[in-house]
Amino acid sequence: MKRDDILRLLLSAKTGYVSGARLAQKLNISRAAVWKHIKALELEGYEIEAVPSKGYRIMSIPDAINLRDLEAAVKTKVVGRKVHLLPEVESTNSAAAGMASAGAPEGTIVAAEVQTGGKGRLGRTWISPKGNLYLSVVLRPKIAPNKAPLITLMGAVAVVSAIRKQTAVHARIKWPNDIFAGERKVGGLLTEMSAEPDQVRHIVLGIGLNVNMDAASLPPAVASLATTLSAETGSPVNRTSLLAEIASELDRWYQTFLKNDAEVLRAWESMNMTIGRQVTVSSANETLQGTAEAIDHEGRLVIRTGDNALKAVAAGDVTIVKK
Ligand code: BTN
Repeated sequence: MKRDDILRLLLSAKTGYVSGARLAQKLNISRAAVWKHIKALELEGYEIEAVPSKGYRIMSIPDAINLRDLEAAVKTKVVGRKVHLLPEVESTNSAAAGMASAGAPEGTIVAAEVQTGGKGRLGRTWISPKGNLYLSVVLRPKIAPNKAPLITLMGAVAVVSAIRKQTAVHARIKWPNDIFAGERKVGGLLTEMSAEPDQVRHIVLGIGLNVNMDAASLPPAVASLATTLSAETGSPVNRTSLLAEIASELDRWYQTFLKNDAEVLRAWESMNMTIGRQVTVSSANETLQGTAEAIDHEGRLVIRTGDNALKAVAAGDVTIVKK
């Protein structure tokens, strides 16, 4: 497409400026057509300076997720075959669940720049300003409902792989589905399921990642516990590339999960920061203290308590006891 060619020429211009005449000649179009494409790029959020004797120069590229670049980068079998990118939505999980019930194909992604009612685990709110990633994926695995928690673990493995590939952040997983950079939370996953008694109808796998937002804008209670990828690396992270990588890794790990879920559990173990640590686990009806020993084949955390008993916890909040 001519617009992409103009963008490529402007981005690769060594002296900064490229004249309208040169762009027109290179692409075999009129200067008026070049001007129209420049205006369209400005609408996409590119800041372009036009100086009469010199030509055009890109001053800044948009921070918005670019659907065209995303679709070009995502070459997956299932996850991301269809992407809905919304400027604002209450919750991508709720939007994706609605689409799933209406028959959206497996792998459909709903992503948004902003969420007005982002949902976290255990009924909490997920603060969702501009600059981060919020996405939900529709999956239709033919599995029993008790295996659904493994989808969350699979998602966490895929997200950590994508972060490690795209940034210098050595992300890790805190059971069950928190993504950590160092000792602070940088993201989380929320899986919601619709099921028959013995078979999953669909699963919505929701992912929220703090990427480029101003970490100082977080409420004080959250700020000391949370971080962003850009705060960790010291420079802005390209969200389009990161989203494309997450889609690719989800696609890869979802295929692995369907073939052999034990492989996902092994990868999860190699990326986790919970096993082997002293923890406190608060679930709906009890609080346990002990050593996190393992995760079992259903993704439950196995704790060895003070009286040397082993207990498996299916859901809860883990606090790692610092030594
Ligand atoms: C957690 O509590 O750690 C899980 C947070 C999950 C947030 C994501 S953002 C995209 C998707 N849509 C939602 O409403 N929630 C999830």
